[in-house]
Amino acid sequence: MEFQYRNFVIFLLLLLSLSFPLSLSYTPFSPVDNHLVNCGSAEDATVDNRLYAADHSSRKLPFCSSDRSLAVRNEDPFAGSSSRLYDTARVFKKPSEYKFEIREKGTHMVRLHFYSLNSSKFDFSNAQFHVVVDKYVVLSNFNGGLSVKAPLVKEYLIWVDSDTLAIRFLPTESSKFAFVNAIEVISAPKDLVPNSALYLDSLQFENFDGWSNQALEVVYRVNVGGPKVTPFNDTLWRTWVPDDEYLESSSGSERLYFGGRIKYRSGGASREIGPDNVYKTARLIRSSNGSIPNVNITWVFPVAGGGGYKYLVRLHFCDIASISLELLFFNVYVNGNLAIENLDLSSVTNEMLASPYYADVVVDSYSSGVLKVSIGPSNESLSHAIDGILNGVEIMKLSNSMGSLDGPDSADVVLRHWPGRTGVLIPLVAAVLLVLSLSIVLRRRIIETKESIGWSKLPVNVSEFNAKV
Ligand SMILES: *[C@@H]1O[C@H](CO)[C@@H](O)[C@H](O)[C@H]1NC(C)=O
Ligand SMILES: *[C@@H]1O[C@H](CO)[C@@H](O)[C@H](O)[C@H]1NC(C)=O
Ligand SMILES: *[C@@H]1O[C@H](CO)[C@@H](O)[C@H](O)[C@H]1NC(C)=O
Ligand SMILES: *[C@@H]1O[C@H](CO)[C@@H](O)[C@H](O)[C@H]1NC(C)=O
Ligand SMILES: *[C@@H]1O[C@H](CO)[C@@H](O)[C@H](O)[C@H]1NC(C)=O
Repeated sequence: MEFQYRNFVIFLLLLLSLSFPLSLSYTPFSPVDNHLVNCGSAEDATVDNRLYAADHSSRKLPFCSSDRSLAVRNEDPFAGSSSRLYDTARVFKKPSEYKFEIREKGTHMVRLHFYSLNSSKFDFSNAQFHVVVDKYVVLSNFNGGLSVKAPLVKEYLIWVDSDTLAIRFLPTESSKFAFVNAIEVISAPKDLVPNSALYLDSLQFENFDGWSNQALEVVYRVNVGGPKVTPFNDTLWRTWVPDDEYLESSSGSERLYFGGRIKYRSGGASREIGPDNVYKTARLIRSSNGSIPNVNITWVFPVAGGGGYKYLVRLHFCDIASISLELLFFNVYVNGNLAIENLDLSSVTNEMLASPYYADVVVDSYSSGVLKVSIGPSNESLSHAIDGILNGVEIMKLSNSMGSLDGPDSADVVLRHWPGRTGVLIPLVAAVLLVLSLSIVLRRRIIETKESIGWSKLPVNVSEFNAKV
C-alpha cells in the first residue's frame, strides 16, 4: 500500500516536472541592493511578500531630531483598505535626507510612494517640496499628488556610481512641508536601460548614446490588450496598466490573449525586460476577407511638452498571433514618423513564434504635449495574415541638460534655495558650521558604529543636512 502510494507521488512529480520544464528553471531576479522603507512607521510592513523596514525608532534615526522630521499616522477612520504603506508618512519641515548604502554600482530603480494622509497635526494640502535623488532633481514644487485620490508612485532609473545614494526632501518655504510614505531603492538588471537607442528626429535616425549621465523617469508603463499587472505579478515589482485609456480608437484592432508559453531567448528580451503577463496579451490588426485593412492602431500619451526633455519609448512585441513564421510584417510609427519599417518579428527573434522582442526609440518632446505610437500594415503585409501587433509600451522621460526631470533648475540651485539662510557672514559661518558638523558627524559615526552592531539589518538612516551655503 505504502509502496504504491510512493510510486504514485513519484509519478505525479515526474508529470509535473515534464509539464513545466521552463517555469521550474526560472530563477527570479535577486537584486544586490534592495532597500524598502515603510516611512514614518514603527513597524515593518510586509506587502506582496516584500518586507518594508520601519524607519521610526530613535535608534534607527540617529540624525533625526523630532522637531525636524515627524512620523505621521493616517487618522482617516475609513482608511485601511489600501496598502499598509499608506497608513503612515514621514513629514519634513526642514531639508532632510535618507541615505542608502549602495553595494553594486549601476542603474537603480528608485520608487517614491506618496499618499496624502488625513492628520490633525498636518494639513496635507499644505505640502509643497522638491525632491533631489543623488544629483538629479526629480520633483520640484510638488504637492504630493494631492489631486490624485489614490496613492501615487513615482519611479526613476538612476545611475549610481558611489557607495551611498542620498534622497533629499526640501520644503519650498518654511511654511510648507515635505513628506513620503515609502521608498524603494533596488539594483536594476544590467539590460534594463539600453546602452544606445535609435534617435528618431523628424528626418533622421541617429544612434543615441548618452545614458551614463542621465536619469530617467518612468511616465507610462502599459500592458497592451491586457489587464493591470501588479508588483506582485511582475519580475521587477513594477505596475503595468491597461492600454484602453490611451487608445485613440479601437476600430480595426483586436485584443488577443495567448494561453501558451512565452519563449524567452538569451540575447532577446528577458523576463525582467517584460514579464509573461505583458507578452501574453496584445492588440493586433488582422486581414479579413482576403484584404489588408487600411488602418493604423494609435496610442496617444500626454507628456510635458517642451522643457528640453527627450523621451525613451520602449515598444514590446511578441508574435503570439501568427499561425506560422514569416507571415507578419508591419510598420511602427512614433509621433507619425516611421520608426521601424517592415518589422519582421520572425527574423528578429531568430525564427521563433511567441518569443519576445523590444525596440527602443528616443524622441524629442514636442510642443503638442502628446506622444503617439502607431502600428499599421506595411507594403509587405500579407492579405491572409496579421498586419501589426503590439504587446506593451513604456515611456520614460530623460533628464534635461540641467540634470532635472522636473523644471529648469539644477540640483545645486534647488539645494541652495532653501530660505533658512541669510546674512553677510555666510562664508565664515558656513566654514565654522562645516567644521562643527564634520566633527559631530565623525563623532556620531564612531558612536553609531559601536551601537549598530546589534542591528546591522538597518539599510537606511534619515538625516537633516545643512542646506548648501
Ligand atoms: C478626515 O476624515 C474625516 C472622517 O472621514 C473627515 O470628516 C475629514 O473631512 C477628513 N479630513 C481631511 C482633511 O480629509
Ligand atoms: C497575478 O496574476 C494572476 C494571473 O495572471 C491573477 O489571477 C492574479 O490575480 C494576479 N495577482 C495579483 C496580486 O495581481
Ligand atoms: C467579409 O465578408 C463577409 C461576407 O462576404 C461579410 O459579411 C463581412 O462583413 C466581411 N467582413 C469585413 C471585415 O469586411
Ligand atoms: C498610419 O500612420 C502613418 C504615420 O502617421 C501614416 O503615414 C499612414 O498614412 C497611416 N495609415 C493609415 C491607414 O491611416
Ligand atoms: C516596400 O517599400 C520599400 C521602400 O519603402 C521598398 O524598398 C520595397 O521594395 C517595398 N517592398 C515591396 C514588397 O513592395
